Amino acid sequence: MTQFTSDRLLLFGATGDLSRRMLLPSLCALDAEGLLGPDIEIIGTARSDMDDQGFRNFARESLEQFLPAGRRGSLAQFLNRLSYQPLDANDIDSFHALAEKVGTPKQGLSIFLSTAPSLFEPTIHGLEKSGLASGNVRIGLEKPLGVDLASSKVINDAVASAFPEDRIFRIDHYLGKETVQNILALRFANLMFEPLWNAAHIDHVQITVAETVGLESRVAYYDDSGALRDMVQNHMLQLLALVAMEPPVSYNATSIRNEKVKVLHSLRKVKPEETVTGQYRAGAITGKAVPGYDEELGKDSNTETFVAIKGFIDNWRWQGVPFYMRTGKRLPKRTTEIVVQFRDVPHSIFHGRGARTVPNRLVIGIQPEENITLSLMAKVPGLDRDGYGLRSVPLAITRPDAFADHQRRIAYERLLLDLIEGDQTLFVRRDEVEAQWEWIDAIRSGWEEQAQEPKTYTAGSWGPSAAIALAERDGVTWHE
Ligand code: BG6
Repeated sequence: MTQFTSDRLLLFGATGDLSRRMLLPSLCALDAEGLLGPDIEIIGTARSDMDDQGFRNFARESLEQFLPAGRRGSLAQFLNRLSYQPLDANDIDSFHALAEKVGTPKQGLSIFLSTAPSLFEPTIHGLEKSGLASGNVRIGLEKPLGVDLASSKVINDAVASAFPEDRIFRIDHYLGKETVQNILALRFANLMFEPLWNAAHIDHVQITVAETVGLESRVAYYDDSGALRDMVQNHMLQLLALVAMEPPVSYNATSIRNEKVKVLHSLRKVKPEETVTGQYRAGAITGKAVPGYDEELGKDSNTETFVAIKGFIDNWRWQGVPFYMRTGKRLPKRTTEIVVQFRDVPHSIFHGRGARTVPNRLVIGIQPEENITLSLMAKVPGLDRDGYGLRSVPLAITRPDAFADHQRRIAYERLLLDLIEGDQTLFVRRDEVEAQWEWIDAIRSGWEEQAQEPKTYTAGSWGPSAAIALAERDGVTWHE
């Protein structure tokens, strides 16, 4: 691992949406807490023609809109760290001007690249030619990194020609979320789950990432991508890997990523009938009418805005345990959660007394509710003259209550700081990305072979009824 803390940060796509909503607010919040280091300079670059002051004005507006006043600290101090250099990624002279603007870092430079896929190769080339890829430079890469295994290899090869893997930081912003990192704490800092965390004791796992938003302003990107590539290939497979991996040797980038990649390599090829795709039609979200996908897009399309998958992991621990995953736009509520459904007790002593046991269930709420709930069986108080009473009751930890004195953070705060300081643990390694794409590509070719078209669902519903049937066929109900 490269051990230097960068004193320069170069943001590509600095005037884009991600920068406005996430990156600049995250950096400002870190600075307000004194976490950025006193000398750090942040250089923004993008196509827009702007000077330093123009960028500072842009940043000020973004911060006022997207960062609560209480987290801004001394805005002037943060804005003073910012400068800007316009760039044409296809013009090598432009990169020389950029290198001049960046100057010579005292310790090192971190680059955050969120750029259109078509500009990837010229950008890497420009960085290399202008000396912005030397030994004390590391690079963070934002998605989309390709649309399939082949295109992701082209991008990864281009990056690898200029940066070694230990200086490449592939971002999956879900790994920056506290509640996602908490999966590791829950599993490996407690004794009680791990002995039960296997096919002998777990009936199935559900992973849901539901969104209420539609296309937003990302028309071109989303229609070429669809839910499978936009959400499953990255975020959902990372959640699955964290839930399913073997205990790592220690908390470091190599150990954790070694275990995740083993899970990703063990994913069984999915049959087309184990997937359901959908596309939303006009409907209502929390009482407000919303248009259908085609109408938002302005043309007909076969892109899926919903996908449900029944997956399996072919290894000793998980043999035969279904992992039901679903994600979609315009669903009834925004929620990301993981449900671990345990098996029933092998023999119930209460059976003869007319009481039924309900299997335990662990629900890990990732967002917006950050709760962990374990359902346990308990005796219903009473004298039991009409039979023994048992009821499933929740044992709940509400993170906002348990950690009320802790700041809620934007996922990118953690990721940007780790990039600046050079810790790769929460970034995705090349072999992980490629294993993810391999599994996704096989699903897509199955759809193509069968000419599978997305089923329709009404905006505000939980997707096509076939997605409900996918689980119900196995006697499983999606947790809502
Ligand atoms: C992004 C997807 O990676 O994640 C978006 O491209 C999606 O389509 C977003 O809306 C969801 O992120 P979060 O943090 O809001 O769950």
